[in-house]
Parts: sequence; C-alpha cells; structure tokens
Amino acid sequence: MSQVENALALKNGALIAFPTETVYGLGADASNEKAVARIYEVKGRPQDHPLILHIASMNDINYWAEDISDYAIALARSFWPGPMTLIFSRSDAAKDFVTGGQETVGLRVPDHTLALGLLQECKKIGVHAIAAPSANRFGHVSPTTADAVQEEIGAYLARQDLILDGGPAQVGLESTIIDCTGDAPKILRPGAITQAMIEEATGLKVSEINDSQIRVSGSLEKHYAPNAKVILDVQASEGQGFIAPADVATPTGAIRLASPANTDEYARVLYSALRDGDAQGLETIAIIQPSGDGLAIAIRDRLMRASKGR
Ligand code: TXA
Ligand code: MG
Repeated sequence: MSQVENALALKNGALIAFPTETVYGLGADASNEKAVARIYEVKGRPQDHPLILHIASMNDINYWAEDISDYAIALARSFWPGPMTLIFSRSDAAKDFVTGGQETVGLRVPDHTLALGLLQECKKIGVHAIAAPSANRFGHVSPTTADAVQEEIGAYLARQDLILDGGPAQVGLESTIIDCTGDAPKILRPGAITQAMIEEATGLKVSEINDSQIRVSGSLEKHYAPNAKVILDVQASEGQGFIAPADVATPTGAIRLASPANTDEYARVLYSALRDGDAQGLETIAIIQPSGDGLAIAIRDRLMRASKGR
C-alpha cells in the first residue's frame, strides 16, 4: 500500500506498526480514542501508561504542548528527527487516553524515511500525531525488525492493521526521554542522545536520571526482558547463551549470540540477540556489559531491567 493509503487506514482507526531508527512502534491516530484503546489491548499494557506522540516536525509541538522552554526548542533543533522524546505540559489536544491521565505529553520526531513519510501524509488529512509505544507485548523486549513485530503482536492484530517493513532499526534502543517541564532538562530514560549531548546543545546542567515522579513504564524494574533468565557480568556455563564485546572469548560450550565490536553495534544487535536466545529456547543468557558512558549507560540501564526477569 502507498503511504497515502496507510495514512487513510490510520485515520479510519487501523493500527500500523512502523519502523523508526530506535525500535518499531505500534501506531494509532493520537486523536482516535478507540484506536488508541486497541494499542493497549494489543500490547497488554496497563491503561495509565502514557504513549509517545510521533510528529512530522517540530512545528507540531505547539498543537500538542504548552509552555515550551527555550532549551526544549534548542534540543528539538539539535536532535530531531532523532532518538529523543521530549516531555511537555500538554495542550487540550492531548487527551487523557494518550497521556495516561497525566498533565504532560511526550513528543518525538522519528528519524526514518518510512515513519516520516507516513507522518507527513497523516498531517495532510488532519492526523496530527501517531501515538505509538514500542511494538512489543508489555514488559518484553522491543522489536527492532518487522519480523520481530509479527512475532510479538501479529496474533493480536486485526485484519485492517498493518506492519510496515523498514529494515532493521539503526539505533536499536528506545529514545532518550527528557522531561522539559522544569528549569533544566531531566533525563527520564537514557538513550542515544546522551547527557553530554544535551548539555552541549542547551548550555544547561542536566539533572540526575530517574529522580522524577513522572510515571515511565520503561522505568519499571522488570522490563525489556526476554523469556530467558538474564545474568550480568559472569561467564556463561555450558549450554547458556552468551553476549559480550567482540574481544571477550566465548566460554567452552556456551552459545554465542552476539559479539559487537563497539558500543553502537552493541545497541543495534542487543535486542535481536536476546530474541535469538529465546528462539533457541535457552534458559539463561549471560551478558558481559559494555563499559564507558554515552550509549553504554543506556545499554546497561536496559540490561539491568532485563535481568530482573519477568
Ligand atoms: O524510541 C522510542 O521511544 C520508541 C519508538 C517507537 O518511538 N517508543 C517507545 O515507547 O519506547 P514506549 O511506550 O515503549 O516507551 C515510552 C516511554 C514509556 O515508558 C512512557 O511511560 C513514557 O515514554 N512516556 C510517554 N509519555 C510520557 C509522559 N507524558 N510523561 C512521562 N513519560 C512518558
Ligand atoms: Mg516499550
């Protein structure tokens, strides 16, 4: 189907799973209460968890949000389209059914030609945003390919729903979420847009991660988890899965699932490696975490949650 047809399907209430540079999202017209309700059904996600609204460009911030600070504009200019979600005070357009009843709204311009093309067609027919969480069942690993989306939620989709295939996600980890409602930006979820990048773009000191009262489902302890038990920074035993940087040798009898050569590659392959472990029916996956800051912080954040199990 063309993007024009896809946009019409969305407007008519269909769900469309679509690629972004971070992970695949499961989208609905952000103003369509029934369609948005179906996202929660398909994901099996609690109703009070807010959704990210994907917009075509920063010009659409004002439709959904109020009290936009200068530093938030600086962030949008620097990093959109890109792997960054900004949290603002909501406008009247952002209803309780997308914000989970909160007075804030999360906005992001994704950096993927398919996603942007769809968003632009949507805008022409009066759909101002696509509300989309990651296209996985609640608490599972986010999908980074169209096949992974099919595997996660294919069975829960209806006939009019669609999965767009835009190839493997280039970043592989969910966006950085930044609370922009205070005097300075606050990171709620680390990602590819790092603290140093945010400070450089805004000239402000970024306050500490995870000290906000705002509910972020991705910050629940048990999250991003495969079926296998994840154990961190120990050598794998025989029959266990093993994910580690390329320079770490595979222990005898362990099943190597990934050998990323650097941090970017680590982020890109991590979720598909976890899925691979599940597909092989492994009971345990041992993971040697990447060191350093930047994107490695985001990887360790997700791994810490994945290791809490399900
Ligand atoms: O990279 C991403 O962000 C992907 C792609 C599809 O854009 N989306 C994603 O969505 O990871 P989701 O729903 O799986 O995680 C988004 C997080 C949730 O933890 C949610 O609670 C938080 O964003 N969030 C959304 N709106 C919020 C708000 N108004 N205040 C605080 N947190 C919010
Ligand atoms: Mg998610």
